[in-house]
Amino acid sequence: MSTVILGIESSCDDTSAAVIADGLLRSNVIASQSVHEEYGGVVPELASRAHQQNIVPVVDAALHRAGVTAADLSAIAFTRGPGLIGSLLVGTSFAKGMALGLGIPIIDVNHLHGHVLSHFVREHEGDRVPAFPYLCLLISGGNSQLIVVRSPEDMEIIGRTIDDAAGEAFDKCAKAMGLPYPGGPHIDRLAAEGDPDRFHFARPHIAGLDYSFSGLKTSFLYTLRDCRKTDPDFVEKNRADLAASLQATIIAILLDKLAKAVDQTGIRTVAIGGGVSANSGVRAAVEAFCASRGIEAFIPARKFTTDNAAMVAMAGYFKYMAGEFCPFDRTPYARTEI
Ligand code: KG4
Repeated sequence: MSTVILGIESSCDDTSAAVIADGLLRSNVIASQSVHEEYGGVVPELASRAHQQNIVPVVDAALHRAGVTAADLSAIAFTRGPGLIGSLLVGTSFAKGMALGLGIPIIDVNHLHGHVLSHFVREHEGDRVPAFPYLCLLISGGNSQLIVVRSPEDMEIIGRTIDDAAGEAFDKCAKAMGLPYPGGPHIDRLAAEGDPDRFHFARPHIAGLDYSFSGLKTSFLYTLRDCRKTDPDFVEKNRADLAASLQATIIAILLDKLAKAVDQTGIRTVAIGGGVSANSGVRAAVEAFCASRGIEAFIPARKFTTDNAAMVAMAGYFKYMAGEFCPFDRTPYARTEI
């Protein structure tokens, strides 16, 4: 082994560490935080505290599972932002301390770059990876972006949400239905049994490649409010159809702009990433769209859709190869785009 990168991810509510050795993933350990469930959303202070408890055992397990020791590491890559600042501080400080102790460099990774580059995480030599340039639809709890990826360093956002992200639309509508946080996976499960044509919600008319989900959310909430007036059990009785119709509308919105982006750029490779790319309907729709156009599709394994350190280690690996290291006085940032 010549190049061994430890990746650390702590931007939100998952503490994760992964090892990539010579371009292949050796381990990817994730500790999710259940402490937030009762609050219906991530509580930043609780997230930071849980990261502090988790980070040592998670890194330890990642090294152990990879069959390496700290002495084998070439560099440590960490998520510097965007995310919750207290959470990011835990991963950043840990990476700095460990790297200083070992006398090795650190590499800062933009969390969004990690999602975009997650398609390069290979578990086996033969795993296929996208060719540049590719078009990435990044859909998560905080972002909905269409990105032209020309190289690991050269990314251009050509479309973005002007209000809510796709994940927020899932989560806020799910909350109105009384489903637990995060609601996306619950909508996904319920939608499988529902009629996607039963209800019709607002679809945006935004020019260009930008997204908007707040109109859909409002029309969904108004439908619930109006129907509950005549039948207080309306949501209970129609959960599956509501979920299926909501999911179908979100997919239609996502695919509409994706198709426009393909037409405008002429790019023949499409990848999706971020938490919402775990959605069964989104995955099937993107695959069907690409098949109908003869476009190559990259749909990540579900374990690489949500926050994970494998993608951070991968983005770090690219930077290591390019000789791009991070000074030790850099601090985390809460907000940024690609
Ligand atoms: O990328 P991610 O893990 O982190 C943040 O951006 O915070 O994305 C989280 C989002 C949440 O909105 C969650 O509801 C959504 O991804 N999500 C899903 C599914 N799994 C996660 N949305 C729809 N269907 C799913 N199966």
